[in-house]
Amino acid sequence: MAHVKLADMSKTYGPIMYLKLGARGLLVASTPQAAYTFFKTLDSNFSNRPSCAFGTHAMYNSQDMVFGKYGKQWMLLRKLSNLHMFCGKAIEDWTNVRRLELGHMLQAMYKSSTQGEPVVLTEMLGYAIANIISQVAMSKRVFVTKSTESDEFKDMIAEAMLLAGMFDIGDFVPSIAWMDLHGNIKRMKSLNNRFDPIFKRIVKERITTKHERKEKPDLLDALIDCMDNNPLADQGVELTETNIKALILDLFIAGGDTTSGSIEWALAEMMINPSILSRAQAEMDQQYAETLRKHPSVALNLRESIEPCELNGYYIPKGTRVSVNIWAIGRDPNVWENPLEFNPDRFLTEKNAAIDLSGGSGNNFELKPFGAGRRICPGERMGIVLLEYILGTPVHSFEWKVPDGEKLNMEETFGLAIRKSVPLAAIVTPCLPPSAYAVV
Ligand code: HEM
Repeated sequence: MAHVKLADMSKTYGPIMYLKLGARGLLVASTPQAAYTFFKTLDSNFSNRPSCAFGTHAMYNSQDMVFGKYGKQWMLLRKLSNLHMFCGKAIEDWTNVRRLELGHMLQAMYKSSTQGEPVVLTEMLGYAIANIISQVAMSKRVFVTKSTESDEFKDMIAEAMLLAGMFDIGDFVPSIAWMDLHGNIKRMKSLNNRFDPIFKRIVKERITTKHERKEKPDLLDALIDCMDNNPLADQGVELTETNIKALILDLFIAGGDTTSGSIEWALAEMMINPSILSRAQAEMDQQYAETLRKHPSVALNLRESIEPCELNGYYIPKGTRVSVNIWAIGRDPNVWENPLEFNPDRFLTEKNAAIDLSGGSGNNFELKPFGAGRRICPGERMGIVLLEYILGTPVHSFEWKVPDGEKLNMEETFGLAIRKSVPLAAIVTPCLPPSAYAVV
């Protein structure tokens, strides 16, 4: 896997490596100091994301937020999503949505426990998080009941996560991209062809039902409104239906597996360390910080320089890519004592107590699971709330055990987010009165 190989290479070649991959230059930063260089000192220059097959063919020619070039249109998309989805007030406004979705999830877990069936966490988390995102973004539950349409949507998101993390030779040797040697482009186009009619239908429906949400417009209402009343139109900045469809797709892809993967890793680590599980309720902050240190959902971020620049006396051409190896920094023995041990108490020591657990905003480059700088994850706050809330509720409500005779497999698998290669399945036993599991 790229992040593991690159971490190994940095032991020989140093904290900042310059690699030539096909026609592209790629810098890799592997220590907190090197991360500081790109997330802080040179952040404004490395604020683009490179063009890539996934952005072009799956994400509407990079007209979304994740792959969009740094500029006024990207700022407009970020501003609207912040206002309606990610800022503190929006997160508070959507408390009920989280409560309801968690209620559904707990009830499903309770049912599995009464039937003695293992809880397959990946699936339950996937539904709950996609429903939270879709309710906040467009006041709609995408997974109402288990149905063919729900399964189809879930398969599409899974395919998107897989394709987004896939290596494509054309991204590094653009002259042969057209050959589509891995067949990825064909799959990306076909994925976009499946998503597009769904989002088109949703946008159309919304325009006709807008008056129903007059009191509480959601993100999609705000985006649609901005098409006609765009504050930046006189500066030549467009916001089209394509941007809207692309942004909504971003939210499902960037917000789904990252959050549910982290929850799954946290529970798996706690099930291996039962004494930690029993202390977990009181110490949620340390639990998720330790999980994101050891298992950051995004191992390598990817940016691209807008202008040439100088770094440590070397000339770095315009268009050079940079990846900060967030995974390697989290496991660096020069930074963390016994880095492979899952030990949330490490955040109580004097040395680490100052580390800002909220990830992005602080000056501690030892722990940056959400990235940093201009392109920092806008969903940082939402991700943390979801982690605390979704992880905390089942931990508080059930005893968690590995099914008899099985051993937890902790291997990583490939994709946009690093997930467990074998989904977590557990036997759960309720530890609250039955009435606590009813959906209210
Ligand atoms: C545990 C949860 C999460 C983790 C660890 C995570 C991590 C990251 C990282 C490392 C980046 C790249 C930052 C950079 O280049 O410096 C990113 C970008 C992004 N994330 Fe997250 N994320 C999480 C949850 C979410 C959620 C819940 C959403 C939305 C619903 C979201 C939406 C995005 C978007 C739209 C971007 C691109 C931002 C831009 O390019 O301007 N993420 N995330």
